[in-house]
Amino acid sequence: MYARVIGTGSCLPGKPVSNDDLVAQGIDTNDEWIVTRTGIRSRYLAEPGTLSSELGLIAAERALEMAGIAAAELDLIIVATSTPDFIFPSTACLIQGRLGNKGAAAFDVQAVCSGFAYALGIAEKFIASGSHRKALVIGAEVFSRILDWNDRGTCVLFGDGAGAVVLEAAERPGILATALHADGSQNGILNVPGQVCGGQVTGDPFLRMDGQAVFKLAVRVLVDIAEEVCAAAGIQTADVDWLIPHQANIRIIDATGKKLGIARERVIVTVDRHGNTSAASIPLALDEAVRDGRIRRGHKVLLEGVGGGFTWGAALLEF
Ligand code: ACO
Repeated sequence: MYARVIGTGSCLPGKPVSNDDLVAQGIDTNDEWIVTRTGIRSRYLAEPGTLSSELGLIAAERALEMAGIAAAELDLIIVATSTPDFIFPSTACLIQGRLGNKGAAAFDVQAVCSGFAYALGIAEKFIASGSHRKALVIGAEVFSRILDWNDRGTCVLFGDGAGAVVLEAAERPGILATALHADGSQNGILNVPGQVCGGQVTGDPFLRMDGQAVFKLAVRVLVDIAEEVCAAAGIQTADVDWLIPHQANIRIIDATGKKLGIARERVIVTVDRHGNTSAASIPLALDEAVRDGRIRRGHKVLLEGVGGGFTWGAALLEF
């Protein structure tokens, strides 16, 4: 049994915030530095008080509408997020409640920017086992909440948003192969090393990153895992119709595409307009390319993420 994508949806909060808007807000940066180093020109930032579940709910409703199924039919809901509404309950349960679904398994996955690839890989295994038939997989983030706006090396890189897919059990493909990996020894190069303890925030509640270490590791693992899932499905990486890498940085995306032999025209890029939306970046890019007609039925699409942990994951699917 294959897990087949039957609907996609996404949500971006408010209006785009340009690099010049950040300068106007007092951040010591400039458009030229950000564009040259990252390719980012703008991002969306949620209003204070807007929660991941609210963005995820809208993306989910749009994906369900495209799929043509009711929320009540879902038997699995997985949300990938590093910026959940609460410590608990899970963002998946909050979205389930708002959708009016009762009884589906619902839980969050924490794999930072690889979260959506992890959630998709998990949902695929539930469906392939025959235990579940209709799954909603969401990546939803309000990363702006965990940024240190005095750290110009990180705050200019990220944005907020959500994306979702609906999967259905089917006898024809479907997700062809998935792979998930982590190396916890690298936890220090990208993290938010804070916690809530006795009603106080302890440690450091802001995102910290060793950008150059992340860059090197990201390209290596994105190339390796793309080759792994393509080999598992019996195809060459150059045979992929569309590559949707995690949208962190155009230089990481370009270096990965080049090493895989996938031309820039076949790589979906949203980082210029969305910034890095962590677990939301892949489903946001997927939804854009499905709705504008680039990705069509029968195309082979390779999704791959990399992020804190360190984690990386990929899914190769026939759309
Ligand atoms: N505007 C202007 N100047 C800046 C800014 C900014 N926003 N940020 C840093 N600088 C300055 C620094 O202060 C430094 O100045 P100095 O030389 O006078 O001290 C100079 O720019 C270089 O700083 P570096 O941190 O060494 O910059 P680097 O060239 O490494 O670029 C970047 C930083 C873009 C983050 C790069 O390391 C990179 O692309 N890393 C990849 C990591 C990434 O994309 N992470 C995203 C999240 S991780 C993920 O999703 C997997």
